[in-house]
Amino acid sequence: MSDLLNGKVAIVTGAARGIGQQYALGLNREGAKIVVADILDGSDTVAMLNEQNPDSAIAVPLDVVNMASTEAMAKQTVDAFGRLDILINNAAMFGKSSANKGAEMNSFMEISEPDWDQMMDINVKGVWNCTKAVYPYMKDQGYGKIINISSTSIALAPPDLLHYVVSKGGVTAMTRCLARELGPHGIRVNSLAPGFTHSQASIDLLEDSQNDTLAPMVVAMSCLGQEQTPQTLVGTAIYLSSELSDFVTGQIVCVDGGVNFTSF
Ligand SMILES: NC(=O)c1ccc[n+]([C@@H]2O[C@H](COP(=O)([O-])OP(=O)(O)OC[C@H]3O[C@@H](n4cnc5c(N)ncnc54)[C@H](O)[C@@H]3O)[C@@H](O)[C@H]2O)c1
Repeated sequence: MSDLLNGKVAIVTGAARGIGQQYALGLNREGAKIVVADILDGSDTVAMLNEQNPDSAIAVPLDVVNMASTEAMAKQTVDAFGRLDILINNAAMFGKSSANKGAEMNSFMEISEPDWDQMMDINVKGVWNCTKAVYPYMKDQGYGKIINISSTSIALAPPDLLHYVVSKGGVTAMTRCLARELGPHGIRVNSLAPGFTHSQASIDLLEDSQNDTLAPMVVAMSCLGQEQTPQTLVGTAIYLSSELSDFVTGQIVCVDGGVNFTSF
């Protein structure tokens, strides 16, 4: 462990599994206390964190769509650890679970209206809700770091994921608007845009839709010629959470091994 985030307290939404779990472990290695906030049971992640760094993590149940739930998350964080410095807005409707059926791949004509609405609720309104919930605490401190997880799919525009890609475009726009509004309070708002990453969720998504072309296409387009793993995203999440990036706000940081050069 080093100490880039010593004394800091971070909420990582959607950290019960997948990439969010890796953000939580990475921030914790740098000394941050972690709140694992997820609609799924976060106890496995908490056990890993507390083994890595004793008494450094708790789980709180969260439904990002429900404002009262996001407010309870922020309050429980401050009750447990005394402050709130970092929010990683990672929870999303992407992989399937007991909570939702995930970002099923379908032509734009076949996406159902309930699926469209749920995608926007979780992926866009959820980021807004969580930001509203942490804002009073960060404002009082005069300092905060908010990292919204977007996606390079908004540049690549893969077929059959219209609702998901549009939702991440919303996250990108929200990042810029919030950076302007919250900057005067010392709150930095940035977006981390992962490329196609081999989390269990994305592996399942391609298997379910019998898509065997997207993953090799992305590797072929990559400057590094490698599959992207969840661990490739952790360094940038730490950087955006730490004081190293204190003069960086409103930015969309693309981490995809050089698949996309586009500015969003
Ligand atoms: N895997 C990729 O290729 C990829 C690429 C770009 C961006 N992303 C983004 O990275 C993030 C993590 O992706 P992942 O691959 O780990 O997928 P994932 O499905 O495993 O992670 C999403 C997490 O959000 C949680 N969640 C869902 N609905 C929720 C709700 N209403 N309230 C609270 N929590 C909720 C889930 O339980 C899960 O833990 C997502 O924002 C995803 O859109 C993933």
